Amino acid sequence: MGLKKATGTLGVMEFRRINQLPPYAFATIDARKMAARRAGEDIIDLGFGNPDIPSPAVAVDKLCEAANNGRNHRYSASRGIPKLRLAICDLYRRRFGVDLDFETEAITTIGAKEGLSHLMWTVLQPGDSALVPSPSYPIHIYAPILAGAEVRQVRLGPEQDFFANLLQAYEEAWPRPRVIVLSFPHNPTTACVDLDFMTRIVDFAREHEILLVHDFAYADLAFDGYDPPSILQVPGAKDVAVELYTLTKSFSMAGWRVGFLLGNAEVVAALAKLKSYLDYGTFQPIQIASIVAMNEAPDYPKQVSAIYRSRRDALLDGLSRIGWEIEKPRGTMFVWAPIPDPYLEMGAMEFALMLVSEAKVAVSPGSGFGLGGDGFVRFALVENEQRIAQAARGIRKALTKLG
Ligand SMILES: Cc1ncc(COP(=O)(O)O)c(C=O)c1O
Repeated sequence: MGLKKATGTLGVMEFRRINQLPPYAFATIDARKMAARRAGEDIIDLGFGNPDIPSPAVAVDKLCEAANNGRNHRYSASRGIPKLRLAICDLYRRRFGVDLDFETEAITTIGAKEGLSHLMWTVLQPGDSALVPSPSYPIHIYAPILAGAEVRQVRLGPEQDFFANLLQAYEEAWPRPRVIVLSFPHNPTTACVDLDFMTRIVDFAREHEILLVHDFAYADLAFDGYDPPSILQVPGAKDVAVELYTLTKSFSMAGWRVGFLLGNAEVVAALAKLKSYLDYGTFQPIQIASIVAMNEAPDYPKQVSAIYRSRRDALLDGLSRIGWEIEKPRGTMFVWAPIPDPYLEMGAMEFALMLVSEAKVAVSPGSGFGLGGDGFVRFALVENEQRIAQAARGIRKALTKLG
């Protein structure tokens, strides 16, 4: 017995759920980037979608003030303090014309990622299945898997009819899927949809009694007059749908970890119950400052979106000048770029590694986002316009086969 024996036992321990997770695909690019930086290279990092724009000043000031008040140092409410839930319901009424009851149809989460992950625990178990778009933001695939369920990937992207693919995947899946994960504007493909699409999906879910989980992380990052629909704008959507909204991208508050699950009251109650066992809520000063962000900086998401639009244009103009033509995304903070023909056979990982070494630019290989991602790289627009223009010049020098 004792520590020695325990260590020996751990040597053969199977970490049942964790072992199903593949090695993190982006780590290889990261390692190459770090090595180049250590060697003194200036690598422009457009890999990880980690927002670089500061959070609203009013929220930062309020955070400092609230943190100085000892009453805010205790455990908070795991579902979020009432005023925070009221603030997100006000935002939804203003922004999307959607009415929500702050008591039963809204809960605070530790960002959209935690909300989605724990939500899957409440609705899925071994033997169940979920439909998830692919390529996809990795947790969309792994949250159902971590809950023990099977995932059917539904192809999404250029030249794919996602809705038709979804119907086919549903017909072919057994047991019948209990959950469909959606997320538009979509990371990484930047695919966007309209309210008519959301209506068709809601109709389908009602007919087949499936839960729709819409991750609306890019709700406010949209350009050229496009306004992304909330799934909750579809009349009757609350019968079958929940939506995740987050302050991460809209208010550039990534590190604060504040998101919400909104919509169907039974599903919200289920997550609230699970979270009451798992956590004591976000640090209260963060909740208080988040209220201020939503109420006092309501136009911040528009300013953030305008910055990403200029960066998008800087990147696409620069790449177009070297003959790398990419369709302009209407939403997200990414550019999903088909690898130019002369380099296609390298595969996304080799191509991305070559961009680090030769162009001094880090991007994410599309293959890291699952089925259908090879053949693409994803640029995250997280450096300023000058740096992005510099990145395009570096790429021009590296892609000699483009002439
Ligand atoms: C689709 C999608 N959902 C969720 C997140 C993370 O959101 P949060 O910071 O609220 O957990 C991201 C971040 O890149 C994302 O792309």
